[in-house]
Amino acid sequence: MREMGSKSTVKLLVSLVMMLVCLSSQLEAQLQVGFYRNTCKLAEFIVKEEVRNGFKIDNGVAPGLVRMHFHDCFVRGCDGSVLIDSTSSNTAEKDSPANSPSLRGFEVIDKAKSRLEVLCKGVVSCADILAFAARDSVQITGGLGYDVPAGRKDGRVSLASETLTNLPPPTLNVDQLTQNFANKGFTQEEMVTLSGGHTIGRSHCSSFSNRLYNFNTTTSQDPSLDTTYATQLKQKCPQGSTDPNLVVPMNPASPDTTDVGYYMDIQANRGLFTSDQTLLTNTATANQVNQNARDPFLWKRKFAAAMVKMGQIDVLTGAPGEIRSNCRVIN
Ligand code: HEM
Ligand SMILES: *[C@@H]1O[C@H](CO)[C@@H](O)[C@H](O)[C@H]1NC(C)=O
Repeated sequence: MREMGSKSTVKLLVSLVMMLVCLSSQLEAQLQVGFYRNTCKLAEFIVKEEVRNGFKIDNGVAPGLVRMHFHDCFVRGCDGSVLIDSTSSNTAEKDSPANSPSLRGFEVIDKAKSRLEVLCKGVVSCADILAFAARDSVQITGGLGYDVPAGRKDGRVSLASETLTNLPPPTLNVDQLTQNFANKGFTQEEMVTLSGGHTIGRSHCSSFSNRLYNFNTTTSQDPSLDTTYATQLKQKCPQGSTDPNLVVPMNPASPDTTDVGYYMDIQANRGLFTSDQTLLTNTATANQVNQNARDPFLWKRKFAAAMVKMGQIDVLTGAPGEIRSNCRVIN
């Protein structure tokens, strides 16, 4: 009897401990604003400082980091997988044509990470650094700041092949874009809102030259593209040129400012990509384009909220993740 009693006590204790473990891992699965408050008080401040420093040298790091966060989150969740370098046995995400040579801003992440490793070794994940840096980049270019829930772990896998199946190419139409974003849990309206990221930054000619030359067998030029704008783009992007240095601003009127210029471009048939201009071809998305163009503050708030949501896609918070000590290599 006595033996049975102690056995059931042990059983009870074991199941209690199991319950606690489950509970704590469930709690852990949620990101928290101010996650580093007690463990690395200056984490967000240092990231912001490095974004500012990088921006002073080259203001292109701001669009670069906003896009990098998007490309991180859409491939294997926001786990810093986009930051990992290729090795002799693995071609990483960053070396896929979707990311190379166009992604930029890696040096800002590296600088923040090395300062944070000195200050609080092994505490702040690369995925969180990127999420903070994207927020700071939105803010530094005139968008709204927002709180970034944190506590992401870094992933240990980065495969170039996975970018092609997850990242939308610029040739997609509105239905395909809607589907692509729905796959990541977004509504069509959030897709339109997030597309406004294209209000800053630049594009290589190769991302839209299909619209300028040999569009299809009957028209050489995409008829949904304003003809004056097309002529200007052709001057900057000669047919057949493969020069990887040829780039154009995506929102020429204010390429360094997070404003609603992107939506005004679309209204004027000056959306740069098929995936931009196509938003005018569907009643619901066209209404949102017009509403955003009319109401900058509305769009800025919706954009901030959608960025927070994007930052939570498939985050790693438990065992399979780690805190990388160098954002470019798994531990
Ligand atoms: C809707 C589907 C999207 C497509 C098809 C798309 C496609 C592209 C392409 C082709 C480029 C140009 C790359 C180059 O040639 O240099 C680009 C740039 C950019 N994208 Fe997107 N994108 C999409 C959504 C987003 C989202 C959701 C964000 C962020 C919220 C974003 C932010 C940016 C930024 C900031 C740039 C400029 C990058 C720089 O200047 O370095 N994009 N995008
Ligand atoms: C070429 O593009 C135009 C405009 O989008 C379209 O009306 C036409 O049907 C297309 N032709 C072919 C052969 O795809």
